Amino acid sequence: MSDSSLVAEKLRSAVLRRSFRKDFPSAVRGEGVYVWDADGNRYLDFSGSAAVNLIGHGVSAISAAIAEQLAQLEFVHTSQFTTPVAENYARELLEFAGDAFRGGALYFTSGGSESVETALKLARQYQVEIGQTKRYQVLSRRQSYHGSTLGALAVSGNKKRREIYLPMVRECAHVGIPYCYRCDYDCTDSCRNCGQQYAAELERAIIESKGEAAGFIFEPLSGATLGAVTPPPGYLESVADVCRRNGVLVIADEVMTGMGRCGRNFAFEHWNVAPDILIAAKGLSSGYAPLGAVIANKKVVDAIADGSGAFLHGFTYNAHPVSVAAGRAVLKYLKAHRLVEAADSSRPGSTATVVREALETLRELNSVGDVRGIGLLLAVEFVADKHSKKPFPAGRNFSGRVGQSAAKRGLMVYPMQGSVDGVLGDHLLLAPPGVITREQAAWAAQTLREAIEEAEKSQN
Ligand SMILES: Cc1ncc(COP(=O)(O)O)c(C=O)c1O
Repeated sequence: MSDSSLVAEKLRSAVLRRSFRKDFPSAVRGEGVYVWDADGNRYLDFSGSAAVNLIGHGVSAISAAIAEQLAQLEFVHTSQFTTPVAENYARELLEFAGDAFRGGALYFTSGGSESVETALKLARQYQVEIGQTKRYQVLSRRQSYHGSTLGALAVSGNKKRREIYLPMVRECAHVGIPYCYRCDYDCTDSCRNCGQQYAAELERAIIESKGEAAGFIFEPLSGATLGAVTPPPGYLESVADVCRRNGVLVIADEVMTGMGRCGRNFAFEHWNVAPDILIAAKGLSSGYAPLGAVIANKKVVDAIADGSGAFLHGFTYNAHPVSVAAGRAVLKYLKAHRLVEAADSSRPGSTATVVREALETLRELNSVGDVRGIGLLLAVEFVADKHSKKPFPAGRNFSGRVGQSAAKRGLMVYPMQGSVDGVLGDHLLLAPPGVITREQAAWAAQTLREAIEEAEKSQN
């Protein structure tokens, strides 16, 4: 057997893993910002896995809540029963989502993609209920990510994650996405006005849909695909206005940005917009159980309640009592420990401010073109040339190399490629738990610096 076949054989597993080429450490324990593998190596989780964990690992209050629910009742089917834990938690979450959702209702799922599927169907059913039966299309943005199931892939713009599945996907229009570091409109005024131009693109797409647009889905901060890109001033307000004027529902995908990650309960609160449908997952349970939620405003819920009277949708595990108990305990914990405030980068001395300041020092490095984000959803973009912002060749896998060098040093980050055009462009997504200390953030930034310097030195 050749050396490479031996390596490939060693990496085979009964688990169909994400890669047959990568050796994954076996994680056995977590506490605070740390995860340990079976060999006793410790990793600082500087990406909250994939922007999942906000409350820290190993919180015993959450395991206790899960154990208590399990001991009482593990499962019932939502066609036969509701549960006190789902009802109470839904009320608490509606309140957490704020005034825009007063009188609304929410649907629990097992994660982000299921929630996006649910939101797409909810938007369609809403339109049918109000007599707009032609409307079914959900418009979205290029370079977005909304999940890996086929409906979610249809509205995603992440080229690599979609490419081979495209023949299976029914697509609607994708419009431009503001990415101020590389603005499509070549702005010379720090992107003060391009928001309106991007919003006008959406309006044109809605008009071109000839009355078939049911909703528009977007991430308030672009998460995985572009890396914590914040919208230009006025953009989200204009987009929401375009949707309202055209009878199109505003669907905010806050799977990554919600539940305090961006220093507000939900990131949309940074702007003057109120979505009709709000999607949460990841931070909802901070990873303690598979959980997602689709929060619908009163208008949407009333249309179904006063119309056909039934939402035509369901998963066996929706509102699973154990997942819902985990989420409820996480919400209680993040409120008690003021983790939304910790993630608020506009507060001097907050955890998010400390992390941001530590990361800003990386700008000194030759390959660091941008450091961006809001709260504890941050990204570092790499470039081969700072002046021209020229990206590295995709084959060099610069962000992947940084990720490997960081992991070797005990630091977990979330490397991504394709921010420039779906293939070119390297960045890291950084989303640490809100319990990270100043010392841990400083160590993480220093370790990341060493990892980036190692990647800069390695050529191919
Ligand atoms: C904005 C957004 N929506 C949806 C998803 C899909 O969530 P999940 O992986 O839980 O299915 C993700 C995952 O990264 C996401 O970032």
